[in-house]
Amino acid sequence: MADVSRREFLVTGLAAAGTSLVSSTAGAQMRTETAPMRTDAPPGRPVVISSGNGLRATERAMQLIVQGQDPLHAVVEGVVIVEEDPKDQSVGYGGLPNEDGIVELDASVMHGPTHRGGAVAALRNIKTPSRVAKLVMERTDHVLLVGEGALRFARAHGFEEVNLLTEESRRMWLKWKEHLSDEDDWIPPEGETEENGPVAALHPSRRTYGTINCCAVDAAGNLAGVTTTSGLAFKIPGRVGDSPIIGAGLYVDNEVGAAGATGRGEAVILSGGSRSVVEHMRRGLSPQDACLEVLHYIAAKTLDPRLLNAEGRPNFGVTFYAVAKDGRFGSASLWSRGQYAVFAEGRNRLESCAYLYESPPEKPRPEKPKSGKRQPNSAAGNP
Ligand code: GLY
Repeated sequence: MADVSRREFLVTGLAAAGTSLVSSTAGAQMRTETAPMRTDAPPGRPVVISSGNGLRATERAMQLIVQGQDPLHAVVEGVVIVEEDPKDQSVGYGGLPNEDGIVELDASVMHGPTHRGGAVAALRNIKTPSRVAKLVMERTDHVLLVGEGALRFARAHGFEEVNLLTEESRRMWLKWKEHLSDEDDWIPPEGETEENGPVAALHPSRRTYGTINCCAVDAAGNLAGVTTTSGLAFKIPGRVGDSPIIGAGLYVDNEVGAAGATGRGEAVILSGGSRSVVEHMRRGLSPQDACLEVLHYIAAKTLDPRLLNAEGRPNFGVTFYAVAKDGRFGSASLWSRGQYAVFAEGRNRLESCAYLYESPPEKPRPEKPKSGKRQPNSAAGNP
């Protein structure tokens, strides 16, 4: 375990007691701690690991696991908290929409003991795509349903249809549209610039990929995982990232471990990311080193100059999260300053991801491109 003398959010006994120290609204109120770069933890089960936005998911999933629930049910119910939260604009309800202003969601699940999986892509109007993905696994002979077919399947199972675009996300989408180009007919309000509103964070070079991944191993060594996202903000309608692609945004092998990804989905798909992490664990690498190995591969295979910074490094972010069957866990990002959530050894907390490259210091916001032409997405280190 990393240095335990640091101030920490201690929830010792929480798992055993099955109680929560956190109010229901409360990811932000939870006392957490970031740790320095760490090596893999010693064995110990159960363990739940998630992306940095998943502290409430790890807590909920661990509660369910210690109650004896199946680990897949546990991780899905964990991420549902984030999917249903309108304030998280990377996932589910309130996620940032596509370029037409419509929220399209992707999710996948995988269940170690049965080696089954399910997924949905470009799903509209349903707050909890992770639950739909689990039903695809349980109630069809298929693995992936997309678009209208996925929505009809969700309807058939009684999911409520809602407009997923919250007022805040609509406002951000409209600002993005109005500031995209000087040469179209969308005009921002008088006096509004990219620098003086929330649109500054949405400059084309800073669009986010969002996403929550959550993987778990229970006390018996059974594994499961889920990845869910609203995908790349303002994407081309129909664009599907890595999250619903089994082997890319998620992979589980009950003999070895589970892994998931956040960040630039295109890079994760092209590297077969999560499956590769699991295969590296199978050949003996620790979870953290397995994540780093795939990040090295992604860096080596990023050849398009649009996707490289001045030093020839990827100008985007990818993070992997992994847990081994024996309870070891780890995470690594292309860029520093990433965090992940983990509930292990009775403590739920944020840890720092290992990384390949030190993130540059924060720079002033970029100028609006004169031509309106989009720049590559950088989002260094940030899913
Ligand atoms: N990793 C999420 C996406 O690229 O859609």
